[in-house]
Amino acid sequence: MHIYRRLMTINRRGFSAEIRRPGTMRPGTPSPPPPPSPVPSEEAGPAPSLTLPGSRTHPLLLYGTAWKKGATAELVTTALRTGFQGVDTACQPKHYREDLVGNGLKEFLMTSVRGQHTPRDTLFIQSKFTSPGGQDPRNCPYKLTLPLASMVKMSVTTSLAHLDTYLDALLLHSPMETHAETLEAYRVLEDYVRLEKIWHLGVSNVALPELERLYEECQVKPAIVQNRFWPGNNWDVDVRRFCRDHGMVWQSFWTLSGNPQLLKSGVVQRVAIRVLEDSDKKEEALYLLVLALGRGWEKGGGVAILDGTTREVAMKSDCEAAALVGEVSDAELGEFKGLIGEEV
Ligand SMILES: NC(=O)c1ccc[n+]([C@@H]2O[C@H](COP(=O)([O-])OP(=O)(O)OC[C@H]3O[C@@H](n4cnc5c(N)ncnc54)[C@H](OP(=O)(O)O)[C@@H]3O)[C@@H](O)[C@H]2O)c1
Repeated sequence: MHIYRRLMTINRRGFSAEIRRPGTMRPGTPSPPPPPSPVPSEEAGPAPSLTLPGSRTHPLLLYGTAWKKGATAELVTTALRTGFQGVDTACQPKHYREDLVGNGLKEFLMTSVRGQHTPRDTLFIQSKFTSPGGQDPRNCPYKLTLPLASMVKMSVTTSLAHLDTYLDALLLHSPMETHAETLEAYRVLEDYVRLEKIWHLGVSNVALPELERLYEECQVKPAIVQNRFWPGNNWDVDVRRFCRDHGMVWQSFWTLSGNPQLLKSGVVQRVAIRVLEDSDKKEEALYLLVLALGRGWEKGGGVAILDGTTREVAMKSDCEAAALVGEVSDAELGEFKGLIGEEV
């Protein structure tokens, strides 16, 4: 059975579009049931997951592929074999080898893990459109002289070719310089959702006012925000509240590197000892507390973490820890919220 569902159609808009999502769903219509559970790892059961608008699932951890250079393919394959159920990349050659992410994904899907193949639709594959300001002009996936809409189309076409599959999510890597440009770029992405090449849209590095405005004015509502978790933006408490109120997934980056103080906190230490039974697992304990911030969001969504570790032992340990998010007590979560100024 082919793992990729390819439809060799050239559509009216002139995209060289050959890869579509399984099933045919129009935005606003009921979506198919969530995909079957992924192949469980031997040691830990499948991690709990989040629910996106339309009932699709989103893993708690996405493997982050920035700065992996020539090791990207092997690390992606290793991460997926170790238990990650999703990957984050970007069409931004300065920081990501999206082509090698595609190779690593293909390698994983073609080979079996403990005698079983993992179906593509149990994985969450996400990429981003990066604006000209975030690109290296000497190595840019689109011509910098093109109109904005054409830049976005070239970038998304490249991502679809690199990854050789439909995308579970495509994010604006950041808002554009003006709101009008942000909306223009986003509207191109909406077309790919209608064409069934992308499931969900989102935006990264976004502040609340721009997110609110975009949400209000767009047609395919953003389902994902990817932002820094660090003191410099007050841990994004206001954006996370917006995500909670709209059933969105809030993806965290800089979770470890941006929080040396939190890593030293008493509650992180206590979660490491009580839940993970290992006082050395402070990084995993901080991950658990951050994931627990998405607990009980009544409209769906929640908090996920981008984890770009290069060590297989940490990949395994992080996946095993994420499965224990339900073990964080309300008192521990309340104390952690207190540290980051989030109402309990
Ligand atoms: N949207 C954006 O603008 C943006 C910006 C930055 C990053 N991102 C995304 O976020 C991903 C993650 O980037 P990040 O900056 O948050 O950090 P990261 O790449 O996950 O790095 C975390 C650091 O913590 C170390 N570490 C120690 N123990 C660990 C553990 N148990 N698990 C994981 N790491 C551990 C890692 O070193 P070892 O490798 O030695 O474990 C690494 O140095 C990127 O790959 C990218 O996909 C997005």
